[in-house]
Amino acid sequence: MQHPVGFEIAANGAAHLTSFWALLFNEWALWQYLHTMSGALVTGSFTMAGLGAFYLLSRTQEEQGKMFVTLGVSVALAASTFQLWPSGDQHGQLVTKYQPITLAAMEGLFHSETGAPIVLVGQPDTDRQKLDNPIYVPKALSFLTHRRWGAEVKGLNEFPRDRWPDNIPLLYYCYHIMVGLGTIFIAIAVAAGFLLWRKQLFGARWILWILMLTFPFPFIANIAGWITAEVGRQPWLVYGLLRTENGFSSHVSAGNALFTLIGFMGMYTVLSVLYLFLMWREIAHGPEFLTGSNAGASVERLSPTAGV
Ligand code: HEM
Repeated sequence: MQHPVGFEIAANGAAHLTSFWALLFNEWALWQYLHTMSGALVTGSFTMAGLGAFYLLSRTQEEQGKMFVTLGVSVALAASTFQLWPSGDQHGQLVTKYQPITLAAMEGLFHSETGAPIVLVGQPDTDRQKLDNPIYVPKALSFLTHRRWGAEVKGLNEFPRDRWPDNIPLLYYCYHIMVGLGTIFIAIAVAAGFLLWRKQLFGARWILWILMLTFPFPFIANIAGWITAEVGRQPWLVYGLLRTENGFSSHVSAGNALFTLIGFMGMYTVLSVLYLFLMWREIAHGPEFLTGSNAGASVERLSPTAGV
């Protein structure tokens, strides 16, 4: 849907697959897959490190806490770096090449510029087509997208208005939240990794607090990334081929869609509350290890001949 390949459009307007291999090795899908999987690793590793930090700070389950923090920080360091480079960078290259309008909207670039700066902070004003209170790094966007400091980056002004993403502020903020959090994750993982290497991490309460409080943010970064990709693709359902306004089913009424949406929201709310309750119960209980007489009984239960 982001970058359709390996198809042809028949006379009746239907799309036919012409190359399964082109579909399988779609370069967009490859980097999208790696970036999303590595996003999952960032989330898992920070959750593990945060849990270990909680055990160390509360002085419960300290042995397991050290193990969780060591593994969590090591994986967080590798996965957070991979998230920026090469996966985030390569994903950005593809957006530049195939969805330049999305890139301009993500970066809040209303007018084309040579030696375009990258905006760290600022509020897009779509009506007046400018960024308010920007703080930027000169020429960095040109370099990151075209590998040349003086390259021209196309702004939204180059494209017809009906091809702009519908909600530019949402797209801009979600993209900046994802990249901003990604940069903070790298800084935290580098600091914690350095202390781990110096064998000072388990006693450094300040970084344990940071690790513990960081754990919800990778979830937010993933959702921000997902919104960036979906809002950035608008107004297309299948990029360049099928507009969203032409892609809905005329047999399903708006009321039905709303009813289904509310049903799903209710179901996910119940599941989330249950998930949080069960997770908290497991965390408070702590990991169980095989000890003494208990170990014999458990090994027996696991033996293939048990119960014969
Ligand atoms: C560190 C700097 C990062 C950069 C430069 C970056 C770059 C990108 C780019 C260019 C996209 C594609 C947007 C589009 O298709 O319009 C994207 C999507 C995404 N990013 Fe990031 N990202 C970064 C960090 C992160 C982090 C830390 C996470 C999560 C922990 C994350 C999760 C995602 C997800 C889930 C998507 C959506 C993938 C999809 O469904 O297509 N990103 N990112």
